Amino acid sequence: MQDISDPATELAAAWTPDIEPRVLRTGSDVEDLTTYRASGGYRTLDSATDLLEEIRHSGLRGRGGAAFPTAIKLGSVRDAHLRGSSTVLVANGEEGEPASIKDRWLLHRRPHLVLDGLRLAAAVAGARHAYVYVSDDEAAQRVDTALTELDGAGITGARIELVTVAPGYVAGEETAAIRAINGGPAKPSDKPPRPFESGVDDLPTAVSNVETLANLPFIHRHGGQAFRETGTAGSPGTFLVTVTGGGRGPGLYELPHGIAFTDLLALHGVSPRAVRGALMGGYFSGMADRAILDATLDHESIRGLGYGLGCGAISLITDECPVAVAAAVLGYFDRENAGQCGSCFNGTAAMAAVVAALRDGRATDADVVRLQRWSVVLRGRGACGTLDGACNTAATLLTRFPAEITAHLNGRCPDCARQIYLADRPFDAREVQVL
Ligand SMILES: Cc1cc2nc3c(=O)[nH]c(=O)nc-3n(C[C@H](O)[C@H](O)[C@H](O)COP(=O)(O)O)c2cc1C
Ligand code: SF4
Repeated sequence: MQDISDPATELAAAWTPDIEPRVLRTGSDVEDLTTYRASGGYRTLDSATDLLEEIRHSGLRGRGGAAFPTAIKLGSVRDAHLRGSSTVLVANGEEGEPASIKDRWLLHRRPHLVLDGLRLAAAVAGARHAYVYVSDDEAAQRVDTALTELDGAGITGARIELVTVAPGYVAGEETAAIRAINGGPAKPSDKPPRPFESGVDDLPTAVSNVETLANLPFIHRHGGQAFRETGTAGSPGTFLVTVTGGGRGPGLYELPHGIAFTDLLALHGVSPRAVRGALMGGYFSGMADRAILDATLDHESIRGLGYGLGCGAISLITDECPVAVAAAVLGYFDRENAGQCGSCFNGTAAMAAVVAALRDGRATDADVVRLQRWSVVLRGRGACGTLDGACNTAATLLTRFPAEITAHLNGRCPDCARQIYLADRPFDAREVQVL
């Protein structure tokens, strides 16, 4: 298996031959202002009201994880603006999810596409201030250069500031972003209030993922109906998928929603026979078993199986034992949670310890019963969703991989007996070189 934590590993980016890409581009050049404008970027916005209607018609859902309808989010901040409040827009490019590379790719290669989307979203929300929130130094540098190019280019819109924080799983959660921009730690806070009610400087704030924003110039140019012509009714448009695992280096793909999971495997060059399962939505939404092979990649299908598409990160499980994968993921959550909520801090540590003991053949039936109970009762008890991610991992390990659990309780897992924990990395796409 290729070690994708090797910084020399380059990211392959591709789209299905059947679609015209909307956000990906080939080549290793950074798209500068001249090139972006020549391709129709930074078009004049005649009516923010009309654009909001087009976004509504497009059915665009957020690409940061929760798939929340973008028009509803922008519309509620716009309503506050129409009531006389100042408002703020935040482009969330922190990409805390370790198995995802898409936001970093967009910020590195197409910073103007993201800034154009941010400008349009800010106009819709009536925001005069906007922020690009990142943790990757290279991304920060590309955005900074793009902002310098914009200075004096005669393109009107919100004043955009760049905010850089140290990377971390929780740093990309929206209230963590707000706290960091307000000068605090990049750690989540209790909700309510939600950012659209009270965010940056206590003003109504829309936090949108950078891939979400990168879709707005297409909608502005071609309209909501054109956007919907690709994808499914409930999941319109294309989306970015980061694929890791499966014996290959990471791949970044732009795919139409609704494409078969097996078509993605074919693109990535992995035989369905080799797939034992997959981490869906990166580390967050749980471990799928082979039933995922019959799924299509859209919210309807993936939710029907009990997972989420999340930010579009899919980590294939092939050679690794799913118990070892779960131990690695829970160990990651144990290290990365913000340590603010007792139930998350203690509960994640307890679940991680049981699954590590299970991996090592030291767990008992009673431990597994406890793990099952925790995976249910701890859900929803953290200030942010991180604890739910840990619960998802534990719950799906238990329900989707019962044979592996039994083998481990009996001390008979051939993969783990050899102590080859391929999942130890686990699937960390953060170090991947984009250019
Ligand atoms: C623990 C946690 C981590 C998150 N990390 C990110 C992230 O790195 N980037 C991101 O865009 N959204 C992240 N989100 C989702 C954000 O809170 C927020 O919903 C999103 O940025 C909104 O953008 P969207 O509506 O365009 O998806 C995270 C959520 C949780 C619960
Ligand atoms: S749920 Fe966990 S990660 Fe989220 S704020 Fe609480 S301690 Fe931090």
